[in-house]
Amino acid sequence: MAYEMIEVETQGPAAVIRLNRPAALNALCDQLMQELGQALRAADADPAVAAIILTGSEKAFAAGADIKEMQARRFPDTYLNDFIGASWEAVLTIRKPVIAAVAGFALGGGCELAMMCDMILAADNAKFGQPEINLGIIPGAGGSQRLTRAIGKSKAMEMVLTGRMMSAEDAERAGLAARVVPVADLLPEALKIAGKIAGLSAPAVAMAKEAVNAAFELPLREGVRLERRLFLGLFGTEGQQEGMAAFVEKRKPVFK
Ligand code: HXC
Repeated sequence: MAYEMIEVETQGPAAVIRLNRPAALNALCDQLMQELGQALRAADADPAVAAIILTGSEKAFAAGADIKEMQARRFPDTYLNDFIGASWEAVLTIRKPVIAAVAGFALGGGCELAMMCDMILAADNAKFGQPEINLGIIPGAGGSQRLTRAIGKSKAMEMVLTGRMMSAEDAERAGLAARVVPVADLLPEALKIAGKIAGLSAPAVAMAKEAVNAAFELPLREGVRLERRLFLGLFGTEGQQEGMAAFVEKRKPVFK
């Protein structure tokens, strides 16, 4: 598949999807979002891929939805044409772990896209923000909800109301980013995470992702119930037998 606004390559067990629209700081236009959805679905379906890394350039993960494209949009066409519908939510339908490796600007829809991934690994030059308010709009791809759950009301409110950006260090401290690494180490570190995941039991990985993500959707009691069902289901897998046998036999597990 030939893409114009993203690059896709396989590195070991990881599919690396790089947003590549440098002249617009990877602004997320319709074409880019469609290409991204296709690439995500292809990687999800590829049995050689264990995890997906979504990244941008050193300067920008993505500076938001494409403002020049949005400028002419009017309601009800936005509604009828499903602006921010399926193409923006493609990443939420992916079953393999998706790691956002964020360097530079992750603003507006860029921050929202990163938050839709399963975890954010931040380069030390990353800047997160929801500056939509400066354009007379508000976040539209989940920012007001996911940012608030990630960092709490007060910090999210300040960012969403004023457009203030958050540094990588603050993002890590607030719980938005899993870790901060030097920008040069961003992809290698993301690949290490993917490599670790690739060596584990695939059903356990898929269920771990499902269980953690359910914490954002379900009340506690339902979430715990789901976790227990998934947990018990894993006792029917080879991975559980191998993992526990290896521990008891004091050897490294070999998961198929
Ligand atoms: C379209 C964009 C863009 C964007 C940058 N560019 N962000 N084009 N949409 N979101 C373009 C600029 O127009 C410029 O192209 C080129 O990228 C470089 O940008 P500069 O502004 O010259 O770079 P710099 O001075 O380094 O400033 C970087 C920046 C700034 C701080 C990130 O570009 C900026 O504020 N961008 C907008 C950020 C933003 O408001 N994002 C939220 C968008 S709304 P030209 O050709 O003009 O030189 C949103 C809603 C999501 O995301 C809702 C769900 C869909």
